[in-house]
Amino acid sequence: MLIFLNRGEFEIINNLFGIKDLPREEIVKILNFAAEFKREFVNGKRCFDNLCGKTVALMFFENSTRTRVSFELAVKHLGGVLINISLGESSISKGESLVDTFKTIDAMKIDVVVVRHEASGFPLYISKFLSAKIINAGDGLNEHPTQALVDAMTLIERFGSNIKGLKIAIIGDILHSRVARSDIYIFDKLGAKVVVSGPLTLMPVGIENFGVKVYGDPKIAVKECDVVIALRIQKERQKKGFFPSESEFSKFFGVNQELLEGASSRVIFMHPGPANRNLEVTSEVLNSEISLKDIQVTNGMFVRMSVLKNLFK
Ligand code: CP
Repeated sequence: MLIFLNRGEFEIINNLFGIKDLPREEIVKILNFAAEFKREFVNGKRCFDNLCGKTVALMFFENSTRTRVSFELAVKHLGGVLINISLGESSISKGESLVDTFKTIDAMKIDVVVVRHEASGFPLYISKFLSAKIINAGDGLNEHPTQALVDAMTLIERFGSNIKGLKIAIIGDILHSRVARSDIYIFDKLGAKVVVSGPLTLMPVGIENFGVKVYGDPKIAVKECDVVIALRIQKERQKKGFFPSESEFSKFFGVNQELLEGASSRVIFMHPGPANRNLEVTSEVLNSEISLKDIQVTNGMFVRMSVLKNLFK
């Protein structure tokens, strides 16, 4: 399901729907706050008061480990009150509509709703019914803005604050990936160059209009790249046989040591997780020294702390 609505500047700054409409200055501010939170945390600080007196509801209608847990930790470290609601436990299972459920939560004077939903555009749509601020924790095939902020933070930590000109290859299931869309938007705004590669059946029509180069052959895509990002094969969304078999996908598009030999000598590997080991990436690469997957997870909490703080500036 796709839901399209117009959005105003006020809505963009007071909510986080996506990276596409987020001004570059806001991105830089969020990344700077995240780095500051990390510095303070590493130095032993655990309690912050940015969300003192605020209540945050997590409403996840798709499964999650990283995003959900890091938002939970972020709210708790910032001194906020946390409410967790999932589809199976809510009155939606008794027939209440989604809109009525969200309005019920809103009536309890919640300050922020963090929502993950399978419908593209759902966070913006539901925001029309609520007075709470909304953070998109992943909507269908549209955007996953906090993951893109995590990826940008991780790159800046590795390559320095100016990632302009960095060459980044995103490989795999671009069609179903909200992370790919948000990553493309954020890397473009920060001046990096993005190329994508994957089976043509998993390449969205018009992807070139995002300002990226498209290569059928991942060996050409990764040539002299500084960063290689593998995307998860989204088995739950693969209903039409987009590729002949997993072993064939892995053979032609899986990220392995041999593929990375064509990249820059300083190449690093990232994966938003969860990963299908030995499908879109070999265990050898995932566990290697150039893999930043665990740093991405660590940075997730600081980025989400920063996004929450930024809503109440
Ligand atoms: N990257 C990501 O969104 O992971 P989770 O589904 O575990 O939250």
